[in-house]
Amino acid sequence: MTKNMDSKKIDPCTLVLFGASGNLSRVKLMPGLYRLDSLGRLPDDMKILSVGRSPIAHEDWQAEVRGMLEAKFYNGIDETVFKRFIKRNHYQANVSDDPDAMKKLEVRLTDESVFPQNFAYFLSIRPVDFATVVEQLASVGLTDERKYWRRVLIEKPFGTSLEKAEELQASITKHLKESQIYRIDHYLGKAALQNIMLTRFANHLFEPLWNNEHIDHVQITNNETLGVGDRTKFYDNTGALRDMGQSHLLQTLALVAMEKPIDFQPESIRTEKVKLLQSIRPIDTTNMDKQAFRAQYKEGNAPARDGHSEHVKGYLHELGYESSVETYAAMKLFIDNPRWKGVPFYVRTAKRMHEGSMAISIRFKKAPMELKEGQQQNWLILSIQPKESLKLEVQTKVPGLDIATRSISMDGQLRQETDDSVDSYETLLLNLMEGDPSLFLHIDEVKAQWKLIDPIVKTWAEDKSPVHQYPAGSRDPKDSGVIFESEDQFWRYSIELGGDKH
Ligand SMILES: NC(=O)c1ccc[n+]([C@@H]2O[C@H](COP(=O)([O-])OP(=O)(O)OC[C@H]3O[C@@H](n4cnc5c(N)ncnc54)[C@H](OP(=O)(O)O)[C@@H]3O)[C@@H](O)[C@H]2O)c1
Repeated sequence: MTKNMDSKKIDPCTLVLFGASGNLSRVKLMPGLYRLDSLGRLPDDMKILSVGRSPIAHEDWQAEVRGMLEAKFYNGIDETVFKRFIKRNHYQANVSDDPDAMKKLEVRLTDESVFPQNFAYFLSIRPVDFATVVEQLASVGLTDERKYWRRVLIEKPFGTSLEKAEELQASITKHLKESQIYRIDHYLGKAALQNIMLTRFANHLFEPLWNNEHIDHVQITNNETLGVGDRTKFYDNTGALRDMGQSHLLQTLALVAMEKPIDFQPESIRTEKVKLLQSIRPIDTTNMDKQAFRAQYKEGNAPARDGHSEHVKGYLHELGYESSVETYAAMKLFIDNPRWKGVPFYVRTAKRMHEGSMAISIRFKKAPMELKEGQQQNWLILSIQPKESLKLEVQTKVPGLDIATRSISMDGQLRQETDDSVDSYETLLLNLMEGDPSLFLHIDEVKAQWKLIDPIVKTWAEDKSPVHQYPAGSRDPKDSGVIFESEDQFWRYSIELGGDKH
């Protein structure tokens, strides 16, 4: 199993954080680094050089960092930890119209009296700037690994299509070896996602059942109650399928369905994931209606943060113009290998649903004996959000004189109150510094994912028929059921026992 939060040795290093004043840095990265420091996981001599586009004085940056932490940790920050943390923090401006900006960064960073010379670059900047920044770093010798390691973490998305991913890859591999590149999908940092592998391979119970002889179908879900918010422009260029499906959902599928790796070394796990992703049957675009479904939310009553519901606008209203971009995407996928032959994997993601949920729901085949009509089949549900749990539904006898069955649920919480809650970015930041690429994507995974998604995106873009609508705050659009292989299949919701039919 991957050993993410085990203490591994971290070489003295400098984390160079590009985009340090951006949203991701504020909300996840700075707080994550502070938390790692508070847990004693950062080496004493580790430094952080934040890089932004505006010039900021050292004291002002320190105040800025404090502000980020105070905004995140409502209960206050630990002043002793903060004192240690802030000493690690430095700031360097990379002003866009300064041709010498990178040279200045190089001069600053190679001052060994301040910065350890192993560098981990975290590119928390716009995806269109990834290649340029790598090129600039290389031009001043900052990616050279002759004496020290130099790693580059690339935020998601890695390209917006297979072609764009290949272009980005070609551009950055002029300067970097594959072993220097850490392509992030922060979902892989979630403990509950890593738990998929553990559940499968650390229990004798599941593996013998994990195949087409016993499993009827699998559903992989990532639904949100939120709408697109103020990200309309980004979202309309992306859509649900590319935003969530291309990486998060397909990575989850790979973990659920891959063969057992020969060991739990990063390379062995990646090899199996790549094999699995490459064996997903391409969608037949001449018969798309039965394999992929898209829709947009219209106005409706959506769950609000306070537990009540609120009336919200539809996607097109928020956008302000016509668009066929989907806020709901579902696909039916088949894996062409002996283990999974004939088993549909339904993968769906949506905004503005009645509940937020991330789960893997596995329905087993019908029992040999059906004691009453409509008797439920066994379900195994690995819930990742809103709660991390493992739930198995089985049929038992209803006490009494008659022979009748009902579903009961064995529901285990994966998280206990005393367990540490670790944000996925904390795990991934640590892995980057440790040099553990297990939870990062290999280029072959990225390519296989785009290869699968591209034809659907293209077919949808060219399809001028009206896009299905669903009211905000509702369940899956009824018509989405068109992709089910058999009439007795239905979308499973995470919470309700025994499923929920339309
Ligand atoms: N926010 C999230 O929750 C989230 C989630 C998943 C993935 N991501 C990915 O993470 C990356 C960052 O997202 P974000 O939301 O933080 O974006 P953001 O708020 O726009 O922040 C990006 C920051 O990078 C700075 N910047 C741009 N080019 C730079 C350069 N060459 N050198 C140094 N700084 C530079 C920008 O400065 P200026 O403002 O001066 O231009 C800005 O402060 C994106 O690739 C995004 O796709 C974000």
